[in-house]
Amino acid sequence: MDPFFSWDFFSCLKKLKMMSVCGHFVIFFKCTALLSLRIVLLVPAGLPVRSQSVSQSDKNFLGNITVKQGETIFLRCAQGEIVTHTAWLNRSSILYAGDEKWSVDPRVSLVTLNQEEFTIKIENVEMTDEGQYVCAVQTSRRPTTNIVHVLVQVPPKITNLTRDIVVNEGANVTVLCQAIGKPEPTITWKLISSSGDLSTDDAYLEISSITRNRAGTYECTAVNEIDTDVKTVDITVNYAPTVYDGRDIGVTLGQRGVLECEADAVPEADFEWYKDDRRFLNGFDGMEIVNTGSLSKLTFFNVSYGDYGNYTCVAINKLGSSNTSIVMYGPRAVQDGNGSTLGVHLDTCLLFIVFLFLLLKL
Ligand SMILES: *[C@@H]1O[C@H](CO)[C@@H](O)[C@H](O)[C@H]1NC(C)=O
Ligand SMILES: *[C@@H]1O[C@H](CO)[C@@H](O)[C@H](O)[C@H]1NC(C)=O
Ligand SMILES: *[C@@H]1O[C@H](CO)[C@@H](O)[C@H](O)[C@H]1NC(C)=O
Ligand SMILES: *[C@@H]1O[C@H](CO)[C@@H](O)[C@H](O)[C@H]1NC(C)=O
Ligand SMILES: *[C@@H]1O[C@H](CO)[C@@H](O)[C@H](O)[C@H]1NC(C)=O
Ligand SMILES: *[C@@H]1O[C@H](CO)[C@@H](O)[C@H](O)[C@H]1NC(C)=O
Ligand SMILES: *[C@@H]1O[C@H](CO)[C@@H](O)[C@H](O)[C@H]1NC(C)=O
Ligand SMILES: *[C@@H]1O[C@H](CO)[C@@H](O)[C@H](O)[C@H]1NC(C)=O
Repeated sequence: MDPFFSWDFFSCLKKLKMMSVCGHFVIFFKCTALLSLRIVLLVPAGLPVRSQSVSQSDKNFLGNITVKQGETIFLRCAQGEIVTHTAWLNRSSILYAGDEKWSVDPRVSLVTLNQEEFTIKIENVEMTDEGQYVCAVQTSRRPTTNIVHVLVQVPPKITNLTRDIVVNEGANVTVLCQAIGKPEPTITWKLISSSGDLSTDDAYLEISSITRNRAGTYECTAVNEIDTDVKTVDITVNYAPTVYDGRDIGVTLGQRGVLECEADAVPEADFEWYKDDRRFLNGFDGMEIVNTGSLSKLTFFNVSYGDYGNYTCVAINKLGSSNTSIVMYGPRAVQDGNGSTLGVHLDTCLLFIVFLFLLLKL
């Protein structure tokens, strides 16, 4: 008969337990050696096999128990007609020897111990509880080891995610999304504003020489068989302003005239208005500059001759500037429909005014 399942083994267990109290070191070491030896044999490195042979002991593989983290598992073990000794082991440690609790873990408790079954439960299962559990049974006829493999599943959780970033166009960008979970979660990246996943299936999303159309909110998804976790990262791409070509306008004297200038820029551009070399600032008589986001409006409430001319709108942010010219011209030039005649027209007008002015002075 296998020494492990003989009375010696169980008396050893008893003695081993008493050792802490009595301090019989010799017996202690003997027993520990015996136990270690048996446990090595009992819990082989390879997969346990169901053995039908009538050897020294029957070894039954009771199968796998798959459990989600935080749940409770019940470890059931059938007992023989005349069970003399029985124990539940976690790897090399005894959880219960009969109804005696050896484990100090409060999550482990006895559910049933009678002639038919020996059941213990483990509450709030953790990842470290994964592994082989063995129910060793000694009956009057023969010893039996029942092996059950506990597999713990953990929902994915994104634990390490790059913070929102702001970069300049052309920069190389790397964003990290790390997740834990069991089975190991797979990571996918998606730019929310565009359709389809990005090519990368890696924790690292690498974008070389980023362009403005790759800016946006990126979604990292960690998936395993149990659940999904999603988190987002905002990537802001800065770039210098581009001013859209201005539209020349024709305005009758005394009317309201509005010059519009629109710029695409990140961060949003500041606008400056010039006529020839003179900068226009808000608060000048009879005009107003209003900036709303990407649009700047220069409004003349009552257009006079002197207001006609060639205006320049300059959009500026920290990465650069861009400008466009907008001509405000009078009604006659509108009919001409030619920029060059306008110039002539304006010049003639100005000359005429100056001439009038001089005449009046004299
Ligand atoms: C039990 O789980 C192991 C992996 O941990 C696997 O190799 C084995 O096939 C499973 N056995 C059964 C019966 O599901
Ligand atoms: C089982 O053994 C492992 C390794 O020693 C330990 O981390 C885990 O807490 C044990 N679980 C129970 C329920 O005893
Ligand atoms: C997150 O990832 C960075 C870069 O790989 C690493 O330095 C850091 O230790 C990680 N943090 C955590 C909590 O895993
Ligand atoms: C981006 O990476 C490429 C190589 O992949 C390198 O040649 C280039 O200089 C990098 N650009 C910046 C701005 O670091
Ligand atoms: C526009 O200006 C002219 C001359 O400066 C003035 O005569 C006229 O009343 C003004 N019109 C309005 C609507 O203010
Ligand atoms: C307006 O001025 C800009 C330079 O300030 C010049 O490039 C452009 O040709 C001018 N437009 C007209 C119609 O004169
Ligand atoms: C307008 O842009 C041109 C180049 O596109 C530049 O040479 C010029 O100096 C700019 N004008 C102003 C007023 O910024
Ligand atoms: C407009 O001016 C250009 C010169 O800048 C000239 O070649 C063209 O003939 C003019 N067109 C009209 C309709 O006056």
